Amino acid sequence: MILLKKATLAFLLLFAVSGLFAQNGSSGMTVYVGYLMKRMTLEEKIGQLNLLTPGGGVATGAVVSSDVESKIRRGQVGGLFGVIGVDKIRQAQTLAVTGSRLKIPLLFGSDIIHGYKTTWPIPLALSCSWDTALVEESARMAADEATADGLSWAFSPMVDIARDPRWGRVAEGAGEDPFLGSQLSAAMVRGYQGKDLSADNTLMACVKHFALYGAAEGGRDYNTTDMSRVKMYEYYLPPYKAAVDAGVGSVMSSFNEIDGIPATANRWLMTDLLRRQWGFKGFVVTDYTAINEMIEHGMGDLQEVSRLALKAGIDMDMVGEGFLTTLQKSLKEGKVTLADIDAACRRVLEAKYKLGLFEDPFRYCNADRARRTVQNAAMRAAARRYAARSAVLLKNDRNLLPLQARGTIALIGPLANNRSNMLGTWAVSGDAQTSVPIYEALRRESGVNVLYAKGANITDDTALAKRANVFGERVDRGPGTSKQLLDSALAVAQAADVIVAVLGEASEFTGEAASRSDIGLPASQQALLTALKATGKPIVVVLMSGRPLTIENEARQADALLQYWFPGHEAGNALADLLFGRYNPSGRLSMSWPRNVGQIPVYYNHKNTGRPQPAGEGQKFRSNYLDVSNDPLFAFGYGLSYTQFTYGPLTLDKTHLRRGETLMASVTVTNSGAYDGEEVVQLYIADPVASVTQPVRKLKAFRKVNLRKGERRTIRFPVTVNELSFYNSALQWVAEPGEFRVQVGPSSDRTQSVSFVLDK
Ligand code: BGC
Repeated sequence: MILLKKATLAFLLLFAVSGLFAQNGSSGMTVYVGYLMKRMTLEEKIGQLNLLTPGGGVATGAVVSSDVESKIRRGQVGGLFGVIGVDKIRQAQTLAVTGSRLKIPLLFGSDIIHGYKTTWPIPLALSCSWDTALVEESARMAADEATADGLSWAFSPMVDIARDPRWGRVAEGAGEDPFLGSQLSAAMVRGYQGKDLSADNTLMACVKHFALYGAAEGGRDYNTTDMSRVKMYEYYLPPYKAAVDAGVGSVMSSFNEIDGIPATANRWLMTDLLRRQWGFKGFVVTDYTAINEMIEHGMGDLQEVSRLALKAGIDMDMVGEGFLTTLQKSLKEGKVTLADIDAACRRVLEAKYKLGLFEDPFRYCNADRARRTVQNAAMRAAARRYAARSAVLLKNDRNLLPLQARGTIALIGPLANNRSNMLGTWAVSGDAQTSVPIYEALRRESGVNVLYAKGANITDDTALAKRANVFGERVDRGPGTSKQLLDSALAVAQAADVIVAVLGEASEFTGEAASRSDIGLPASQQALLTALKATGKPIVVVLMSGRPLTIENEARQADALLQYWFPGHEAGNALADLLFGRYNPSGRLSMSWPRNVGQIPVYYNHKNTGRPQPAGEGQKFRSNYLDVSNDPLFAFGYGLSYTQFTYGPLTLDKTHLRRGETLMASVTVTNSGAYDGEEVVQLYIADPVASVTQPVRKLKAFRKVNLRKGERRTIRFPVTVNELSFYNSALQWVAEPGEFRVQVGPSSDRTQSVSFVLDK
């Protein structure tokens, strides 16, 4: 205790000294960090570049660090992750600020991907809210909870654009569109970091995985990525850039290669683009052992790949200890310079300074605040709101939904009464014991009688089940045989007025290293749904999944279909709100749903090609398939409501736009149905003639509006040259004169279009 006080005192003094030199925060930081670095040995500097995970907490990779305590004492650790809870973090921080020579505090990071201990819907689900304010709030709430529990650094947002739902990590991102993705990326950074990074309830965000990780070939995780610069700039890079523009404090490198050079060794990416072109001022951490993995990529031995990473602009090495074990040697051999090491060390120390850790290494360790904040009523209420707002109503024949609160409901399905799957992938700190499963919530509804049967296992494929059960049992089997499960479900169905079937994936069917080549509903559940259909009872299918699924047949069988993703801790309560109409679904897809795997990639902002397929039947010598249409099953931007929205004609206030002017596109939307509800009005731009071929449309604006029954509102979208610009082949952001089409509608495949001309 005495030691600790001395250490804190020393830091306060040093901090005060920096204040004497400083006119403003940033020069204060420069002086402080400079002063500190003068006292650091080479080994201590390299130590700051080392991020470890001690194991025993949350495991997110195959390797865990050893000998962590003595490394901390020796000043060989810059930060830790996978250490959860105020007590453990306080313990480790105490070791750093009392046991190490220079008493430099540690960063404590974690994968706060969709909430911290209170688990929100997976990010792909939240993106379907198309609600920037809500997504920002969700990050702020997560930061509040996580900082109360000792953390100062979130490995989030994950903003990798993805067009291939086979890739398991689509669950962690915001889907396929660069505009929506950028809006949400910036919103999350604002939410995590707030206005003051040194406040007790804000933490440093880490945008990941830089870059292009979502474009892995064949949707197979960690696979090769290759694309043109134009495609990168136009479609894949904008969400990372949006995070940088929003002031993100750190960036994580991706596992994949870019132009044949792994991102972690890619100097063009990490220095030319990120720092020089985009002006990023924070630090770059690798992904988990990404330096070491470059040996397998074929870039050299550990010393060489560590050198390449440092030279490329990487500042911190996650878990692999390549920097720790080779940089001194490389310096001696003249392969890296002291300036390279100093630059990285400075950036890591600056992050600690910005977080206020030098002022008070324990500022995020407040056991009282943790007790008051973690999983408190406000967090749970937020989880319930987010889950309801992320659901997407895909079908609702004869207005089956909302249900009346009377009669008997047969609640059937392997996900209807399951606590762990509903949290989804990357719920690393979420405790499944505190989940509210659907059965539990529906049983509490007054007026309805709920009969439950599991009906089927998530899958009967034991090899798949085994792989999905790596972090604990997600695919539970039985009780009884598949036949017995089905029989009891049919008995329950026969006794009910309506069937609510909760079907889908196990949570670990998605996430890291969880790609699938078949993204259909498992056969066990297909059989269950077919048998339920044969009863003739109306069926509401509630689908939980971490990706779009190929469910053409199931969509036909269902009378109503609600895509519920993995909704988090409050899945049960929020579903009751949705089913009984206390909340009217307002989600819209942020990713297209393919009809079959062979159609992948299917995405809305595709090119026209020289031989586009006209509407209607497939034709010879046109770009199409013989055996499936080009259209997705459900388009980007699509989603229904319990009410109807009617669009008036789209009008533009001018037919010619000059540079510097603003054109106003207007449309009046009326809630012409029977419920209050929210509509997402979407604006797309098409550029039919350009020096680089343009996609059929690009999302450029959207507005989520709340309309009471019978209410109408005119929505106005300003359009400027910025919305008309694209990256030309010299990678300049330009708008070329000529015709443009403004397209407005409720989804990417149902728009009205009006043209105007951009003058020279
Ligand atoms: C993942 C990252 C994650 C890191 C730390 C990696 O395997 O790719 O997204 O932040 O582990 O858990």
